[in-house]
Amino acid sequence: MMIKKIFRCFCVSVALGCCWQAEAADFASLIPRPAGMEQIPGTLSLPSGFKVSVGSLPQGIADEAVKFVNALNLATGLDAAVTRDSNEKCLIDVVIDPSLPTEGYGLKIKSDGIDVKASGASGLFYAFQTLKKLLPPNVMAGRRGDDGAAYELPLGQIDDRPRFEYRGFMLDVSRHFFDAQQIMKMLDLMAAYKLNRFHWHLTDDQGWRLPVEGYPELTASGATNRNILRSDFSTQTQWRDGDSVAYGPYAYTVDEIRAVVAYAADRHIEVIPEIDMPGHMVAAIHSYPEFSTDPASEKLSLHEDFSHNIWNKGGVSRDVLDVSNPDVMRFVRTVVDVLADLFPSRYIHIGGDECPTLAWENSDACAAKMKELGLTDVRALQSWFTKEVADYARERHGRMVMGWNELITEGNADMEMIKAIDPVIFCWLGGEDKAEANGLRHVYTPFNGGYYINRSYADIDQIGAGRDGALALTINVNPPAHANCIGVQGTFWTEQVDRYQDLEYLALPRLLGIAEQGWSTETDKDYDDFRARVAKDTEYLDLAGFNYGSHQLK
Ligand code: ACM
Repeated sequence: MMIKKIFRCFCVSVALGCCWQAEAADFASLIPRPAGMEQIPGTLSLPSGFKVSVGSLPQGIADEAVKFVNALNLATGLDAAVTRDSNEKCLIDVVIDPSLPTEGYGLKIKSDGIDVKASGASGLFYAFQTLKKLLPPNVMAGRRGDDGAAYELPLGQIDDRPRFEYRGFMLDVSRHFFDAQQIMKMLDLMAAYKLNRFHWHLTDDQGWRLPVEGYPELTASGATNRNILRSDFSTQTQWRDGDSVAYGPYAYTVDEIRAVVAYAADRHIEVIPEIDMPGHMVAAIHSYPEFSTDPASEKLSLHEDFSHNIWNKGGVSRDVLDVSNPDVMRFVRTVVDVLADLFPSRYIHIGGDECPTLAWENSDACAAKMKELGLTDVRALQSWFTKEVADYARERHGRMVMGWNELITEGNADMEMIKAIDPVIFCWLGGEDKAEANGLRHVYTPFNGGYYINRSYADIDQIGAGRDGALALTINVNPPAHANCIGVQGTFWTEQVDRYQDLEYLALPRLLGIAEQGWSTETDKDYDDFRARVAKDTEYLDLAGFNYGSHQLK
């Protein structure tokens, strides 16, 4: 083990007069629970003007200390500073220890100073997040505390690392739109709980939110809805505005997307864009009917979905992309180009869920394409399409793909084609055993196991998706003990939710349970203990202005 200590210095802490009522948190109240911790009696009081030593650490790593100090100063007025000067007396000493796991960190809080160590920037970020969380809740909330308040930390040692590399939150912005500012607020919350993947479901049957050069209708008619379901949890009502009222057009600008990506990166969150295809594509088909197998809507006798009307309710449309059409494949490649340009993520999520094959079964062009490809089952056409998109993303842009479990669980999916592209499988309706058996990495987000944190029932009572026991499910339903399970995700669909405060109300506090599952190495968790920690954390949620389903804590 090589520990690269740049230098070490201490200063004596100065106790301040106290008028801030909130107390420092115990190690045992942290969410998510650290992998290893030992608290001892006593506290360290942060003195005004204290210094954080970063020695000669590269700027990209030292920046984590700068971010911490800036946030702390804003909330406390302590006037702390980061220094590279080895002659200065420092309270916090930051070192890099390459032997620590990625995202892992060590904290030693002593009566005369704090040692912080990690193998890189993400671990340091989490070390400082833990320090912020151990301080009074206004610090993590970014709210200025009372003048003269004391900022104390409990003494002891924390040796921490995450259980899983993928700790995600997915938000559907198609069914209802949520703007960049609202997403940034959720990213703050994710960072507070050490979640590190924001899965952005950008398109679906109800709206297209991504600007794509050369396809302007996507963010015009494709981003406009009529008579969409609206809801208000505070009054427990749901209604439709009527056809005369347009919802939208709502789409992000390139600048807004870049701002979200940068905001997330600052918090060590990777933004994974999802374009759901070849099903769930009605917004695109409404914009460009030629993408359908039936552009002129001549097959309405097959199903009314072939009208190409943009959807204003939930469900699964039979109107899917005509994957035999070279113009469609050109469009899809353009979309991948746009994603690769806007999102530095190693992954592009290409959906793949709920894709009926009726349209392909009734298309001469698709039959001819299958013949050309030597495919005998129409479902294999989806596997072929998935492989085409994945090959392009990898060969052209060096990106890998992710997709929903239907990629492997639909009968007659071509496993050889899917295995060849090595996708990460998102298991919402099973598939984890099959993914594991085929050596594919997978993420656990069960639809009926508490990880779908939207509202799961159509009725409009306050309890909605947060019925009694819903928070417990997030803690009691454990991810599979599979070597290829890379993590967990809280998934939020918005068919029933159009107000941002309702989104928070439903997602919280359950997303904290997902964070606990994703980080904590405890495989058998104690719900009563977890719920007590969440109840304590409502101080932070309140100060940060989050709306949450407090009934879930009863
Ligand atoms: C899904 O819920 N359709 C992935």
